[in-house]
Order: sequence, then structure tokens, then C-alpha cells
Amino acid sequence: AAIHRQDYRPPAFLVESVDLHFSLHPTATRVRAKLALRRQGESRVLELDGEAVTLIEASLDGTRLAAPRLEMLPSGGLRIADAPDSFVLETLVEISPEANTELSGLYLSGGNYFTQCEAEGFRRITFFPDRPDVMARYSVTMEADRATCPVLLSNGNPAGSGELPEGRHWARWEDPHPKPSYLFALVAGDLVAVRDRFTTRSGRDVALAIYVRDGDQDACGHAMASLKASMAWDEAEYGLEYDLDVFNIAAVSDFNMGAMENKGLNIFNTKYILARPETATDADYEGIETVVSHEYFHNWTGNRVTCRDWFQLSLKEGLTVFRDQHFSEFMGSAAVKRLANVRRLRAAQFPEDAGPMAHPVRPDSYVEINNFYTATVYQKGSEVVRMMRELIGAANFRKGMDLYIARHDNQAVTIEDFVRAMQDASGLDLSRFSRWYAQAGTPELRVEDSFDPATGRYVLTLSQTTPPTPGQPEKQPVPIPVAMGLLGPDGAPLPLRLAGENAAEAPEERVLLLEEARQDFVFEGLGEGKPIPSLLRGFSAPVKLSGLPLESLGFLAARDSDPFVRWESGQQYATAEMLRLVAAHRAGEAPALPEGLANIIAAVLDHAESDPAFAAEALALPSEDFVAGQMTVADPEAIHIVRQALRREIGARFAPRLAALHDGLENSGPYRIDGVSIGRRALRNAALSYLAQAPGTDGLPRARAQFAAGANMTDVLAALRVLVDSTDPAREEALAAFHARWRNDPLVLDKWFALQATSSRADTLVAVQALALHPDFDLRNPNRVRALVGAFAAGNPVHFHAASGEGYRFLAEMVIALDPVNSQVAARMVGPLGDWKRQNEQRAGMMRAELQRILARPNLSKGTFEKVSKSLAMD
Ligand code: ARG
Ligand code: ZN
Repeated sequence: AAIHRQDYRPPAFLVESVDLHFSLHPTATRVRAKLALRRQGESRVLELDGEAVTLIEASLDGTRLAAPRLEMLPSGGLRIADAPDSFVLETLVEISPEANTELSGLYLSGGNYFTQCEAEGFRRITFFPDRPDVMARYSVTMEADRATCPVLLSNGNPAGSGELPEGRHWARWEDPHPKPSYLFALVAGDLVAVRDRFTTRSGRDVALAIYVRDGDQDACGHAMASLKASMAWDEAEYGLEYDLDVFNIAAVSDFNMGAMENKGLNIFNTKYILARPETATDADYEGIETVVSHEYFHNWTGNRVTCRDWFQLSLKEGLTVFRDQHFSEFMGSAAVKRLANVRRLRAAQFPEDAGPMAHPVRPDSYVEINNFYTATVYQKGSEVVRMMRELIGAANFRKGMDLYIARHDNQAVTIEDFVRAMQDASGLDLSRFSRWYAQAGTPELRVEDSFDPATGRYVLTLSQTTPPTPGQPEKQPVPIPVAMGLLGPDGAPLPLRLAGENAAEAPEERVLLLEEARQDFVFEGLGEGKPIPSLLRGFSAPVKLSGLPLESLGFLAARDSDPFVRWESGQQYATAEMLRLVAAHRAGEAPALPEGLANIIAAVLDHAESDPAFAAEALALPSEDFVAGQMTVADPEAIHIVRQALRREIGARFAPRLAALHDGLENSGPYRIDGVSIGRRALRNAALSYLAQAPGTDGLPRARAQFAAGANMTDVLAALRVLVDSTDPAREEALAAFHARWRNDPLVLDKWFALQATSSRADTLVAVQALALHPDFDLRNPNRVRALVGAFAAGNPVHFHAASGEGYRFLAEMVIALDPVNSQVAARMVGPLGDWKRQNEQRAGMMRAELQRILARPNLSKGTFEKVSKSLAMD
């Protein structure tokens, strides 16, 4: 059932225009589609995709179609024989939005209608060649009850509306830009608009609106501000302007992903629109800025220039993530945004690259495309674009973007087309670089060096290997840009003169390009002490770096000029020590805070006030999962014990300092959502969290007071986090109070579930099982499923990997229950069970048994089947 990239064939028929008419009804919506088609290939047999749609009638150029010319396919699609060269096909179908719990196609949420068509949801609305290389002009008419559906929206510009008998009304929308079916959208219901305007630099006046449920109008300010900032930035950075008279966003509580870039009508998970200081955390605010900008940037990188087929998904996603990250760096503290993004890449993408689902940024095959909206396609894809920009330079990159859009506007293209534009604009050969798109697995970069004090000659030897991944046993070297500097023994930057270069203008930072498996880089003219290499500055390539001794890491953590290397070296240092302590713990030795690590933390605390946001990142120990990822056979329990012990000792050792930070960073003024304020809250809450770990400090009373003060959701949640992990007598009361206060705000209630699901307390597994039976738990709401099941399985390693196997069983039960309801979300939940290869024999056996149990279920969706079977197939 797998689809292969090499099997791509152009569409046999093109659709020139689409005229849709929706008569909206919860259980019996009727969709009349008029398609103007033109034959492009040899065959006269037209095949249309279809799924869960009931055909009522079909006609071709006005003639009713019937068997044998018209045939239903087992897939749910339609086949029509003897198609002329160009013709009009009219179909009438019926669908049930209410029965659509998959949330793909047209569905109901809170009584309102929404669509989600990417990747293959349009076929659940009407019969259509549902593939991104069929681009058509759409005109959409909707009719519905005026009382329940006062708002009727679709893509493009409004083109008329009016009354109908029996309390119904209609509205028409026309989209002048040709688009693939996955960008179709419809929203209908009882929503209210928050409005604003934006004038593009060439003078187009754009009406902006965010549609939400009544009562949420006050929670749209940050989303609107982010949208306007994104529109301005795309003009300034890329010269790209918006191209319609209206830009609408609609927010919905039931949504499979974060948001969707439908032309002129973005549809968002409410999580990425709604924010008030008392309900949303700083992370939520940052998420809104990221996702709003991401979807807006898709208007050019995704919509105007789209993908030829779904193997090219990273063409739009990797590029658009790169653009939204670049934008967020511009909006806030660039260095802190960068390392937060790197942390996320390593938390999500590196494990994927090392696991059973490992795939290249441009996959070669898939069973279910929804399984490939992955960290690899998105985040690693973004890193690849970023490296390309680093290699050819910002000016050439901009030229390349201009060329890409000039060449391919209104086309459905490939990753090769994108790389070719960059190559043509820069004059640089990027053919080897393309390996980054084709090869899965995270390259491992090793460093060795030697120094001759007599001659001042320093040899830096860089080597690379990429471990085998499923289906790709052998790997080739990839070009790795290594941004670097050398530090003298006093920490001062040294001039970087490569052998043979002129001494006059040696820079203090340069980018080495490692193209072979192993290369020497020889630097000359250095003084007497051995230089310390600072490598991969700004994380110039998505690789794992190893080979630096502990002393160098400690030195770099304290002294390097590059914030990323400072942070990274501290993390590497802590990781190495944690691994050592895990081994020691297994040999019966109690973990104690190593002096070197304590020194790094002391230094961070000493400079904390000068850059609180950076300090908060630098104080965090590597996650338990990250440490597990460095072990051949993980030991979740030992890792947890070690990490907790270190946190406790850090809290005890630095208690006065931490308490002073918690006092000193308290904000008395109004809540502000700028980088400085966010950084102060992050550092203050990091201090509280450490303090509360240590017995004998006033950490818990502080948490209680902070919770009770209720200043804003960031502080409230940080305090509640501390209490939920504790045995404090106020714990249950605080949880109950939080639930009582927020029981009618689903996004806040999600936090209540997630907090308990990720608790370190011994009774967490039992609590999680009980929460799955809580009246507020709802399998049909993806946010709620992610808040409980996703947070537990992917965010609580010690309890998920409980020796009893109960954690695995819980996840399997949830996947089994969820698959018939929402297979996309069910398939996404499988991931953590695929990590069995890194666990000991006993755990691996139990994990495999649960995977087998899922696999044995009748009528498993193909998405869940693909994830489970691939998870098992690895040997
Ligand atoms: N294109 C959307 C985005 O990147 C993601 C939508 C994916 N949806 C899905 N069901 N696979 O923002
Ligand atoms: Zn996207």
C-alpha cells in the first residue's frame, strides 16, 4: 500500500475551474460541484478521489452518467470512461459533518462548520483529483440557517450574499488565485469577528478579521498584532506582499494540528489564537506569534508556489519554518530564540532520526501522508534551508528566493526546483548539498586536534559519520558548515589564518565546510598555548558534535563569545556528568553534584540578571529523554533519580541566590509580553523550581503564595507545577481550585491535565488512568488527548517506562480507543512505543507486545497501521 516518490506521474486531467455549492446541514450537507476539466494525458479514463461521500447524481456536459461509464472505485473514488478533451462534470453528493470525528474534510465543532483539507481531506467533501499539482480557480456558494450560521466564509474575496426562504441565507466567495484542493476552506457558524486593517506597501488596503466564539474577542490582540507584524516583515525581508482584499482567520477548539494556511482563510487551533494574561502562558504567547506568522508566510511559500506531490512537503514546510524562526528571532532575543529552537529540534527530531520512523527530509515512500508531517520534514527541513543560506550568503539567498518565486509563481514544484533557484542565483554548485534532503539520520561530527607550540600550528581534524536508518544502510558524507572560532588560554578570540592565507586580515570567526568523511583544517600563526575550538556556533548544522574534553566544555560554557556555544557546552558538560552518574548509580553509588557542574551553574547565576532569558535556558538540565538518547540501553529510572538528585542539590547549594532571584525578579507593573519580561518570568520560575526541590528551603511556601497571588498564567502554572510534583498538603486543594476556576475554559483545562500527566510523583500512573475517566476528558478533542495521553507518553519517561508495563498498556489502550474516532491523532500517539530498541530486554518485550496488541485490532486505520508496523519492523 506504500506510495513511492519515483512513481510520480503528471495528472491525466487538469481542472480549470471549480464551482461549489454547499447546502449546509449537520447530518446531511449537500455539495454540488461543477468542474471544468481538460484532458492532459493519453488516457480518456478520469479517476476522481472520494472518501466517505455519498454520490447522488453525476452528469457530464449535461448528460446524466450511469454504469458502466460511471463506476465507483473500492477506494471510495469515482471512475468515468470515455472522457472528452474538455468538459464540465457535475456531481451532487451528501456528507455528514456531524459524523466526521476524524476532523478531516467538513466537520462540526461546537455547532459550527469547519474544514481541514491538507493533506487529503478535500476528497471527503466532494469527488476531485485531490492532489496538489491540480490547481484550479474556485467559486464557492454556501447556504445555511441564518440563526445558527450567521457567518459564511470561504477562500478569496466576498462576491455576494442574500436571503433565502425559511430563515436561510447564502454567501458567495471567489478566489482569483488558482490553488490546489488542500487549500480549500469553509467556515460557517455563529462566530464574531475582531477586525483590523493592513495597508501593503504598494497601497492595497486589506481587511483583517479573526473569527472566534462570542466572549473570546478580548483574547485576539496578540494574534492580530503578530499577523500585522508578519505582513510587514515579509514585505521588508522578501518584498512579498499580500494578494487579496481580505485576510480571515477562524479559530476552532477541535483541530488535528496547530493551524492551516488555506488561501485567505487560515483556520487555527484556538490554542494558537486565544491569549489573555490570566489564561495563557508566555510559551503560549510565543506559540501564537510563531504559528500566526508561519501560516501567513505560507501565502507565498506554499500557496502561490506549492508542492508537486506530498514527497515535496518540506519544500513549503521546511522553508516556512525557516521563515517563521527567522521572524521570531527578529521579534525577540535572537540568541535565546535560536537555542530554544535547537532544544526543540533535539527533543523531537533527533529521536525521530534515530528511531524506526527515520526518514529523509524528502521521503521516498509513505503509506499515510499524514504520518509525515514530522519534525524531520518541518524542523530539519528548516535547518537545511538555514544551512543553504549560510553557505551562499544572505544576499544570494534573497536573490534565490526572488528567482524561485518569479520562476514558479502559480506552479506546483519540487525541492529540486528550489535548490536550482538558489544555485542559479548564487552561482554555487549545490548538488552535493542536496544529500541533506535525501539522507535520513543525524550526522555525527567528531573533533580531534593537535597543536605545536614551537610553530604555532594548530590542526583541527573534523570527521563525520551518519548511522544507518531503516532502508538506508549506507550513508555518504554531507557538506557540513561549521561556524567556528578559536579561543586562547585566556579566553580571547584568536585570528583564524588557514595555512597558505595572508596574515593581514585573519577573521575571528569563519565557516569551515566539511565535505568529506574526514578533513584537516590547519591554522597558523597562533601563540604558545593550545587553542580551544568553539565549534558549530549558532548551531550552524543539525549534527551531533562530540570529542571535546570536559575541561574545554567548561571553559567554553564560561568564556565563549557565542551564546549558542556557551549554552551548548554547558548542556554537553551536564550530559556527560549525568551519564557518568547514571553508571555510578547502577553500581550502587549515590549521585552527588559534581564540582565542575556546580561551577558552571554558579557562573550562570552570577551573570543571570544581565540576560535572564539566557540564564533560564542555561540553568535547565538536559531532559531525561535527551540523556536517554545518548545511551545504547536507556535506564529511565536511574536517569530520573540522577536528574532529581542534581536538581535537589542545586536547589540546596544555591538556595540564597535562588531565593534572591525569586524576590528580585518579581514584577510589580502590568503584565507585559516582551522578550525582557518573558525572560524575567522564566528565570524567576526556574529559581522557584530549584528552590522547591531542596528540603529545608521556603520553596513550597513561595509556590503556594505565588499560586494564590494569581498574577498571570505563567506564574500560576509554574507555581502549580511545583506543587503538583510535591507532597505539599496544599497540592490537592490547589488542583481543585484551578479546576473549579477554569473548568469552562478548555485551553486552561488542558494545562490542568498536562500538569498531572507529567508529574514526577510516584502515584502519577494511577492518576493518569483516573484522568482518562474524568468527565472532562474527551477522546474526540485532539487538544485534550494531547494534554493527557501525549503529555504522559512523550513527556514523562520515568512513569511511561514504569517497570510494570502499565504505562505502555495505558498508551496502547488509548490508541485502540482513539483509532476509530480520529485515526490521525491516534497514529501520532504511537510514537513513544517505537522507542523499544533503546530499552532493556524486559521493557522492549512489553512495548513490542503492546504494539502487537494494537496491530491485531480489526479495521485498524492505515495511518496507525503504518506507525505500528514500522515501529515493530526494526531489528
Ligand atoms: N500545513 C499546516 C501547517 O504547516 C499543517 C496541516 C497538516 N494537517 C494534517 N492533517 N496533516 O501549518
Ligand atoms: Zn506549515
